[in-house]
Amino acid sequence: MTNSSDEVQRGLQDVIALESHICFIDGKEGRLIYDGYDIRDLAAQSNFEETAYLLWYGRLPTSDQWATLRHHLVELRALPSAMVERIDSMPATATPMDVLRTAVSELALFEPEETRPGPSSIGGAQRLTAILPSILGQFHRRRAGLPPLAARPDLSHAEYLLYALLNRDPSELEARVLDVALILHADHELNASTFAARVTASTLSDLYSAVTSAVGTLKGPLHGGANERVMEMLEEIGTPDRVEEVVKAKLSRHERIMGFGHRVYKVEDPRATILREWSRRIGEAQGDLHYYELLRKVEEVVHREKGLYPNVDLYSGSVYALLGIPPDLFTPVFAASRVAGWTAHVLEEYQDLRLIRPMAKYIGPTDLPYVSIGSRV
Ligand code: ACO
Repeated sequence: MTNSSDEVQRGLQDVIALESHICFIDGKEGRLIYDGYDIRDLAAQSNFEETAYLLWYGRLPTSDQWATLRHHLVELRALPSAMVERIDSMPATATPMDVLRTAVSELALFEPEETRPGPSSIGGAQRLTAILPSILGQFHRRRAGLPPLAARPDLSHAEYLLYALLNRDPSELEARVLDVALILHADHELNASTFAARVTASTLSDLYSAVTSAVGTLKGPLHGGANERVMEMLEEIGTPDRVEEVVKAKLSRHERIMGFGHRVYKVEDPRATILREWSRRIGEAQGDLHYYELLRKVEEVVHREKGLYPNVDLYSGSVYALLGIPPDLFTPVFAASRVAGWTAHVLEEYQDLRLIRPMAKYIGPTDLPYVSIGSRV
């Protein structure tokens, strides 16, 4: 028995589920556009706060609007004391993505006024974006025995995130590298985590529930978790002369090479192009091109053997590692950027709401006779 057309689009591949103003991916040309602006221009000239404004409001801010938003985001960073206690009570061995997912969900208990679905959710969007670095910093600092967070109103989102994780002020270059990475990760159309957020929002559930869904979805290694796995692969490879052997062995075992391939891009992911250059720049500045050289060689072998191009996750891990960010915080740093896109999409969903509810093609039996429990074998 079927209740729909026989065409099944596995993984919803090539299905256009909704209209959106926020983000356009040209998978054939390798272009990424946020609200009309090419990611290459934003990465060269913008900053995370401005990019977040663009995603939320659909236009670039004036200097006054930018300054107001930046000031507001600083004010919204503070964790409620009850959340500090909650985070401090979490096991120090917990995975930071689990901590983040739990903390986002629990934050709703303390801020019910921010969680109401609707256009006013812009307040919640800004609150969540501002507070994610504080959640990560609070957890990481406790487990690492670092001093508690200070408010640091002088620091931008990227600078504060680095300060929160490293307990030091970043250099200008470090702050710019992270700012660019945050711009590049801020949105990506209907990727799995954003879709999860929109599905949740489409039931008229609240923003915090939607972002909780998104964090759980980003965690998977086929999505945001790939950057951490790239670094595991580099550790396994060790030296450039072992790239060929290790990559070919993985491919012969039909293992996926993390940081390669993409559902939408059929050419190189433009974010990978930009991050590759920043990986080289930060490597040169630190006199350590080890990761960069390994990754260039991995790219060469994977492209030759499988015809695959790198995605954003190939270089992000090496950039974060050179910044001194621990590997289990790579995906949470991704989340600290993508939260701007998730919340922009949730706001868009509330404005043009339609319950997202696809169908499955049933391939099981029908009309089985019910056998009472005592008679089953
Ligand atoms: N390594 C090896 N083979 C791959 C890879 C890879 N990274 N990516 C795709 N392939 C192969 C598949 O094995 C499959 O081969 P087959 O036809 O011989 O079976 C073919 O390419 C098509 O793969 P699909 O899984 O159908 O392609 P899909 O569009 O679903 O995959 C995905 C996209 C999940 C990102 C995939 O490329 C992948 O697993 N990449 C590695 C994980 C990764 O880097 N994720 C980050 C993505 S970017 C982001 O989320 C921020």
